[in-house]
Amino acid sequence: TFVVTENCIQCKYTDCVEVCPVDCFYEGPNFLVIHPDECIDCALCEPECPAEAIFSEDELPEGQEKFIEINADLAETWPNISERKDALDNADEMNGKEGKAEMLER
Ligand code: SF4
Ligand code: F3S
Repeated sequence: TFVVTENCIQCKYTDCVEVCPVDCFYEGPNFLVIHPDECIDCALCEPECPAEAIFSEDELPEGQEKFIEINADLAETWPNISERKDALDNADEMNGKEGKAEMLER
């Protein structure tokens, strides 16, 4: 399965949702997650993310492993999103910032 990681937080560009053939993205206030039981591992979303926040669970960067559980948990409660929308304000400034994990709103 594919996993949305820390750098999506406070950016939420949403380019990813447009290409997903099974519409398995779910949306929170400042982050998206992928439902691990619905993702078919097509990898189409990975290159679409301007924040490079999407990885296969087998290729997660160091320190991002906790996002496997975060995606699984939040996909159960957040609403589905399948159409692109505007990124969050200041998304470009927040892209690449460190310490964004603490800013995750649930
Ligand atoms: Fe959707 Fe494919 Fe990305 Fe999984 S890998 S979230 S199925 S676009
Ligand atoms: Fe987030 Fe990247 Fe999608 S920033 S909303 S994972 S395009």
